[in-house]
Amino acid sequence: MSSEAGTLHRLRPILACSPGQQETVRSLRNDPAIRSAMYTDHVISAEEHARWLSKLAGDRARRVFAVLDPAESPVGVVSLSAIDPVHGKADWGFYLSPQVQGGLGSIVLFQLIEFAFEDLGLEKLNGEALEGNAASLAVHRKLLFREEGYRRSQIARGGSRLGVHLLGLTREDWRSGREDILTAPPPHRVILEGDAT
Ligand SMILES: CC(C)(COP(=O)(O)OP(=O)(O)OC[C@H]1O[C@@H](n2cnc3c(N)ncnc32)[C@H](O)[C@@H]1OP(=O)(O)O)[C@@H](O)C(=O)NCCC(=O)NCCS
Repeated sequence: MSSEAGTLHRLRPILACSPGQQETVRSLRNDPAIRSAMYTDHVISAEEHARWLSKLAGDRARRVFAVLDPAESPVGVVSLSAIDPVHGKADWGFYLSPQVQGGLGSIVLFQLIEFAFEDLGLEKLNGEALEGNAASLAVHRKLLFREEGYRRSQIARGGSRLGVHLLGLTREDWRSGREDILTAPPPHRVILEGDAT
């Protein structure tokens, strides 16, 4: 992961992004391909987005980063939520524009995991993937998450119900396996910018 090869993407705290970048994030989140992978799949209005951003300010239990392409245009979001310093754990989530998927997701997740375990000092990261989301499951497994359970019939979606895969990664598993994950030079480089939120 230390290779200098590949295009450079940045993870910038969303509150440090310009209003235009924040609006691009809303458009991405409203992309049907992304909405369908999320717990809530309604179209997010400008007002709801603004409320969400203002609630993030000062919320130490959440860290939300926009994924910026080399031209500094947002192409995704990666976040930690439910950050619990008592038990050293957090939930994580992400999405990428369909135009940039294919290799970038793993590199972004790699940087987020490093941030969570090395910078925040967490011990455990938890993720969830909706039933049928093969790409999310694949990226979790590739980055050493273990499947810890499956909640059946957990959410309502389009007149039917979907289960949810529960995935978890310990700092110990990460430290012992991180070097072996990406053996080939990665197609992208990702830098996580300072924790301004
Ligand atoms: C999940 C997501 C961020 C992954 O991004 P990405 O750039 O495609 O990730 P990567 O290419 O690094 O890794 C994805 C892996 O899944 C595999 N994959 C992709 N689609 C797949 C499918 N339908 N079935 C099985 N594997 C699949 C890829 O081959 C890749 O594995 P590989 O590197 O061993 O080839 C992206 O698909 C996305 O934004 N999806 C919509 C939102 C979402 O699902 N978010 C996660 C919610 S938990």
